[in-house]
Amino acid sequence: MSALYDRIGTGYSATRRTEPRIEALIRGALGDARSVINVGAGAGAYEPTDREVLAIEPSATMIAQRRPGAAPALQARAEGLPLPDQSFDAALAVNTLHHWTDLRAGLRELRRVARKRIVIFMRDPPSGEPFWLTEDYLPSLDPSRKNSAIIDAIRGELSSVESLPFQLPRDCADGLFAAYWARPEMYLDAEIRRNISNFALAEEGELAKGLARLRADLASGEWDRKYGDLRRLESLDLGHRVLVAELA
Ligand SMILES: C[S@@+](CC[C@H](N)C(=O)[O-])C[C@H]1O[C@@H](n2cnc3c(N)ncnc32)[C@H](O)[C@@H]1O
Repeated sequence: MSALYDRIGTGYSATRRTEPRIEALIRGALGDARSVINVGAGAGAYEPTDREVLAIEPSATMIAQRRPGAAPALQARAEGLPLPDQSFDAALAVNTLHHWTDLRAGLRELRRVARKRIVIFMRDPPSGEPFWLTEDYLPSLDPSRKNSAIIDAIRGELSSVESLPFQLPRDCADGLFAAYWARPEMYLDAEIRRNISNFALAEEGELAKGLARLRADLASGEWDRKYGDLRRLESLDLGHRVLVAELA
């Protein structure tokens, strides 16, 4: 049902662990919601354990990685949620909207099934600092245009959207695309890249060239001459945002 994550999702939980500081921001954004539908839930990384949760996930490979005792999961897509109107206090969608085939249909479904609010975690690169990996090495992996269109769709489909900034910590536990901004060597590790869809979808020739340049710049000290100060920063705003749309 989700060809991409059935292909790349094996071993996802090994590097895509819950980052507690993202979890805390999401928990706060969910507010007083007692019931939550987590759409594009994957292995359940950011599901609250103190509320009633239903996970929606199209990939059987991802569902199979849910820990024992995790919330129940339905194999379905955001674009067609098999649930009645207003059946959950909140709808949650973490790092998933860029995969939906019909984004606006999915957003309308979130709005239909949620009573109080919708909480979305995603990256909006233009609202943060430039990221050296896409600026200098792999420009075709820059999700700026796609994600800006997603933000426009969110603001078009959902009213009163509040944006909460999140500075990505240098030791981010969730190995998402920009997680290794201060640990550039990690991008040379195929196991790390395997669980990041930007790499899985990249054109192989260009990827190989960009990574070869990164490897050479790390070996020669060029990367550290240009970006070494990043290694001493605790966190960096690379455009990660929690978007909260109040419905009631
Ligand atoms: C990067 S993973 C994020 C998983 C989880 N939310 C997390 O933060 O760990 C993206 C997830 O979106 C799911 N997905 C892809 N297309 C989808 C769709 N149309 N509707 C709902 N989920 C979808 C994928 O199968 C995958 O599990």
